[in-house]
Amino acid sequence: MNVTILTGGSDGIGAEMARQLAARHQGDLALVLAARSADKLEAVAAQCRAHGTRVLCVPFDVADEAQCRAMVARTLREFGRIDTLVNNAGMSAQALFEDVRAEDLHWYETLMKINLWGAVWCTHAALPHLKESRGRIVAVSSLSGLVGVPGRSAYAATKFAMSGFFESLRAELKQRGVSVTTAYPGVVTTQIRHRGFNAAGRPLGSSGLKEDDAMSVEECARLIIDGMERRQREVVMTAKGKLGRFLKLLAPGVVENMALKVLKDEARPH
Ligand SMILES: NC(=O)c1ccc[n+]([C@@H]2O[C@H](COP(=O)([O-])OP(=O)(O)OC[C@H]3O[C@@H](n4cnc5c(N)ncnc54)[C@H](OP(=O)(O)O)[C@@H]3O)[C@@H](O)[C@H]2O)c1
Repeated sequence: MNVTILTGGSDGIGAEMARQLAARHQGDLALVLAARSADKLEAVAAQCRAHGTRVLCVPFDVADEAQCRAMVARTLREFGRIDTLVNNAGMSAQALFEDVRAEDLHWYETLMKINLWGAVWCTHAALPHLKESRGRIVAVSSLSGLVGVPGRSAYAATKFAMSGFFESLRAELKQRGVSVTTAYPGVVTTQIRHRGFNAAGRPLGSSGLKEDDAMSVEECARLIIDGMERRQREVVMTAKGKLGRFLKLLAPGVVENMALKVLKDEARPH
C-alpha cells in the first residue's frame, strides 16, 4: 500500500489532490491529510474513504517544527512507512513593500515559516523513510517562485527559496532513488489570495490578481499528480509561465512588464 502525506489537505489544491488520488488508487492508497482545520480535513477524508482509501487526519500547524515532526511520527505509527510527501500547505500575500510598516514586517517571517520552513521540517522528518521506500517528494511552489511579481515580494521570496531548496535536494537524492518534483502553478481558482496577508499582516479579503483565465483546481491537481507519478523534475503550468522563465534570461524588462499586467489596477505600484 502506498502511503502519501498531503500537507494542506483540508482545502484548495491539496484537498482536490486527495480526492483525485483516492479515485485513482482506491484501496491501494493510504492518505495522511494534514492542516489546521480538523473539520475540513474530516470532510475531505470522508470523500476519499468513499473510494476505499484509508485516511488519517492530522490537525497541525506547518509553521511549528515540533508539530511537523509529530505529524510524520503519527503517520509512521499508523501506517509504518512513507512513500510520498506532498509539501503543499501554503499561504499567500499581496502588498507593495513600501506600504509595509516596520512594526508589521514580522509577517514576512511568518510567511517564510509556513511556505518554506514547514516544507523543510516535514521533509527532514520524512526523509529516512522516503529513502527506505525509494519514494517521492513533491514541493508545491508557484510561478512566483520563478519570476518576481510586483506586490508579491514576501510570497515570491518564500517560493524562490522553496525552488532552490528542493532543486539542491533533488541533486542530493539522485542516487538514492527518491524523486523530487517541484510544481509551479499559475493562478488557480482557490481562496488562497483572499486569505493571504495584506500590508498590515491581516487577511486580504480579495484578490489583487486578474483571475479571468485562472486554471481550475481540478486541472492543477491532475497536472501535479501526473508529474509526481512520472517522477518529473518540474511541472511548470501555463504557456506564459514557461515563456516567462526563459524570456527573463534574454529580456528581463519585457518580463517585468508582463508581471505588472497580472495585477489588478488597484494593486499596481502607485
Ligand atoms: N491557488 C493558486 O493560485 C496557487 C498558485 C501557485 C501556487 N499555489 C500554492 O499551492 C499551495 C496550495 O494553495 P491553495 O491555492 O490550495 O490554497 P488554499 O485553498 O488556501 O489551501 C491552503 C491549504 O494550506 C493549509 N495551510 C495554510 N496554512 C497552514 C498552516 N499554518 N498549517 C497547516 N496548514 C496550513 C490550509 O489549511 P488550514 O487553513 O486548514 O490550515 C489549506 O489546506 C500553496 O503552497 C500555494 O502557495 C497556489
